[in-house]
Amino acid sequence: MDFPSFDVLVIGGGAAGLRAAIAAAETERSLRIGIVSKVYPMRSHTVSAEGGAAAALRPEDSWEKHAFDTIKGSDYIADQYVVETFVREAPLELVRLEHWGCPWSRDPDGKISARPFGGMSVWRTCFAADKTGFHLLHTLFQTSLKYEKIARLDECFVTSLLVEDGRCVGVSAMNQRTGAIHPIGAKSVILTTGGNGRIYAFTTNGNICTGDGMALAYRAGVPLKDMEMVQFHPTGLPATGILITEAVRGEGGYLINNKGERFLKDYVPSKMELGPRDIISRAEVTEFEKGNGFKGEHGDYMHLDVRHLGEETIDLKLPFMRELGLDYVGIDIVRDPIPVRPVEHYMMGGVDVDIYGASELSGLYAAGECANVGLNGANRLGSNSLTECLVFGAAAGRAAAHHSSQAKAPTANPIAALVEDETRRIEKTYMADNGGKGERLADVREELQRSMDLNVGVFRTAEGLAEQEATVHELRQRYKKVQLDDHSKVFNTELTAALELDFMLELAEVMTHCAAARKESRGAHARRDFPDRDDEKFLANTIATRGAPGQPPKIEYRPVRITDWQPAVRSY
Ligand code: FUM
Repeated sequence: MDFPSFDVLVIGGGAAGLRAAIAAAETERSLRIGIVSKVYPMRSHTVSAEGGAAAALRPEDSWEKHAFDTIKGSDYIADQYVVETFVREAPLELVRLEHWGCPWSRDPDGKISARPFGGMSVWRTCFAADKTGFHLLHTLFQTSLKYEKIARLDECFVTSLLVEDGRCVGVSAMNQRTGAIHPIGAKSVILTTGGNGRIYAFTTNGNICTGDGMALAYRAGVPLKDMEMVQFHPTGLPATGILITEAVRGEGGYLINNKGERFLKDYVPSKMELGPRDIISRAEVTEFEKGNGFKGEHGDYMHLDVRHLGEETIDLKLPFMRELGLDYVGIDIVRDPIPVRPVEHYMMGGVDVDIYGASELSGLYAAGECANVGLNGANRLGSNSLTECLVFGAAAGRAAAHHSSQAKAPTANPIAALVEDETRRIEKTYMADNGGKGERLADVREELQRSMDLNVGVFRTAEGLAEQEATVHELRQRYKKVQLDDHSKVFNTELTAALELDFMLELAEVMTHCAAARKESRGAHARRDFPDRDDEKFLANTIATRGAPGQPPKIEYRPVRITDWQPAVRSY
């Protein structure tokens, strides 16, 4: 059987994936590199990043300050060696982007501009107005085009990792244009598929953020790390969940409750609107519970007010926010406050990898939101993630290139057999005709999303988590009876959605079990029944491994690597 084969195969065409592919190509020019993406790369979720990318580029800043802010922000379960490496590399990556043509916003003296962001002690968030992800993605995409050895397989959905003799030797992927499932061989595979926010109903994440890479790795026996750590961003638009960037507060916007008060004075007085996301999200929910929110069709909300900044600043620094207000709320933010509420935004957890992006499965790497290298701990600081995609995307690309230079090429026979099994599995499960009597895909998905919002949200309890474990179990049973309406082959988006939902259900189970097991509050994981941080038991990362069929994940704890920064009370 003929099948395409690469030295390095990147799954995902966003910032981490493109950066990984470029780094691999630069490391060893003869390597054949493939990028498989379920969407055209410019539609990757990186495009929706708004506020900026953090790096200590200014004279008043230092790598030590950036490291400390990140570690404190993580509530002390970030890997301190990883953080130090990250903050030292970050300025180099942003300057490299500059050389590749990224149109950063500028100060009058021509230097790259920086703005303040939550939990950061100095202005270090570099930005391109409020469309930073869009510009960064364009820059990376166009740079990737200059490498002839980088081939793209757009609109191919990866259904499983191929594992032979304890090493990852490629993937099976559905070409969405034909519906055919193909093997793609590789000496190393890098997962860069982004987050899994679509497990929640109310999220800033695009439809494509379904946790594919995390689920692929987990099913191949690779552990996931810190999957209970889910970030809620304090400022999403109530109806749609669309992100109103933290840059709005960085530029001086106020959060106001229904009494006209800047209520953050009671929660994070020294930082106010520039507090970290976990604390501000909890403050908003607490205010809603006290009856201090505005009432709306989609629940309670706060006002985010930028009117005092004036039209000129808004148009210069926040033009996209003005567009979003007009298009999605029917307001002009120059004249009206913006309605906002906490919204699921980012998964701190992910595939357990080391500082080179290597997982415990030989030949399998991961970077970006789908990975957990140990940078973000229990709470990521806003604007660290774009830079994380660059720094650790590049690290994974280089490491995979080195691995591939020495690895044997995968052989045709096992690969062909593995893909035949996969084709049969997919046809049996999804193409079956149950006479229209099976479960509706949308019903199962909506129940998953609704219940995750309710039970694994900003605040958690033992009862809610137990209920969610039962709900996810039941939904997985219902999923087995899903009936698809579309049995066609060409761009069968219903089939893709079914495969994605399968991934999301598996991850929801892991997240819920990890959240139930961590009986303390730390960073974004706030337990009403265990309100305090417990360093004695939980100064550790959660490691979840897939259990035997029908069994819950196996959960263990790995002590955190602490170098120079001793855990302390996290107050702002
Ligand atoms: O609010 C924002 O612009 C989000 C940034 C981030 O999550 O890093």
